[in-house]
Amino acid sequence: MHRSVRLAAIAAIVAASLQAAPAQAATTYEAENATISQGVAESNHAGYSGTGFVNYDNTTGSYVEFAVDAATAGPATLTFRYANGTTTNRPMAVAVNGTTTTRDFPGTGAWTTWQEATLTTTLNAGTNTVRATATTANGGPNLDRLVVGAPSAGTPVQANGQLKVCGVKLCNAQGKQIQLRGMSSHGLQWYYQCLNTASLDALANDWKADVLRISMYIQEDGYETNPRLFTDRVHNLIEQATARGMYAIVDWHMLSPGDPNYNLSRAKTFFTEIAQRHNGKNNLLYEIANEPNGVSWSTVRSYANQLIPVIRQYDPETPILVGTRAWSSLGVSDGASETEIINNPVNADNIMYTFHFYAASHGSEYLDTLSRAADRLPIFVTEFGTQTASGDGSNNFTRSQQYLDLMAQKKISWVNWNFSDDFRSGAVFTEGTCPNGPFAGTSRLKPAGVWIRDRVRTPDDF
Ligand code: GCU
Repeated sequence: MHRSVRLAAIAAIVAASLQAAPAQAATTYEAENATISQGVAESNHAGYSGTGFVNYDNTTGSYVEFAVDAATAGPATLTFRYANGTTTNRPMAVAVNGTTTTRDFPGTGAWTTWQEATLTTTLNAGTNTVRATATTANGGPNLDRLVVGAPSAGTPVQANGQLKVCGVKLCNAQGKQIQLRGMSSHGLQWYYQCLNTASLDALANDWKADVLRISMYIQEDGYETNPRLFTDRVHNLIEQATARGMYAIVDWHMLSPGDPNYNLSRAKTFFTEIAQRHNGKNNLLYEIANEPNGVSWSTVRSYANQLIPVIRQYDPETPILVGTRAWSSLGVSDGASETEIINNPVNADNIMYTFHFYAASHGSEYLDTLSRAADRLPIFVTEFGTQTASGDGSNNFTRSQQYLDLMAQKKISWVNWNFSDDFRSGAVFTEGTCPNGPFAGTSRLKPAGVWIRDRVRTPDDF
């Protein structure tokens, strides 16, 4: 299905109107045919639809107004296609029958690069006015068209509800096998400022992510230094994801020391509170051990066998994701393989095993392992990068695409590392983007960010 805007503010309206008849099928209104005030229709930048686009005068108040017909009253999506060849956002006030919402129109990289900005609104039966007015002295972007459509079936969580492991796949509440795609945060002790209203709106509405992984480190100045602070950060981010209709992975990001048992009693405390507080939600996954290392599979398994029953006392339904040997490589980085798990699985239902890879470090041996393992075990790729295992260095997009093709084919859910402005190549935003953005569009993305945003945005098959 095609998903569109999921602004928290309108989620309730969309939810309430899901049973209502859609306002109308998609209709295109070319900007050059609309009412133009302080702007001109031009055609000197390629890639537009119709006969051209509107070049807004570089002044506050310049506008394009569309007369939009709706057969019936109800919710609708407004998708503006535009180009902004500058690096400066050109926000516009979008007034629907006089009620205004301000929308970002960030730089698209070139005047010939056209992108879409969507919002959801409610239309009256009959003719409606939709006016997009420049709010800064730079004027609006070049505006190609407005497409008015029926709203989508809603957010990922509205479409899928409570998840459940079904055989070796992840299924939605209707029993359909699905693939989730989204982003991992960086460590909450370092990059919490990259997880604010604007960035999470962008993740849900512009990136169209299905899932946010909340990466809470235990060591390295993380949870162990202040359990209250970090648990509260996780509570907050769970609520933020929930408000936007996204799934959330609560990632117990143990890494060093590599034996998960070192943090077992902390994990029991943390997950008990999380499960008690959130067991009524239908949009969570619990990842209980990010990357065990330096220990055998039986040691990891023993940890899982002790922690999972504690969580299950309070939360019988949330799928639990279990890390695997050697940095969640299914053992490959220790010269082992998925066979040790198949022969000695964790003693619990509704669980998946995690696999992590970094495409510039992990070649065909890892790809083949993932392919084989996914036919025998429920696998969730809770972390991967297009670069080397440090999350830095040059990208290998060719290898990354091979992984993505495999994961699409086998419906393996994936989460990319990471949604922050760290200096490393695997952090999607350029340094200094947080906390002010802009987070939507591509103007502040590094190459890995541009690449992965496109792939997160690809419509879901829900
Ligand atoms: C350039 C560009 C125009 C654009 C204008 C602007 O002149 O060619 O298409 O509208 O910049 O900054 O608005």
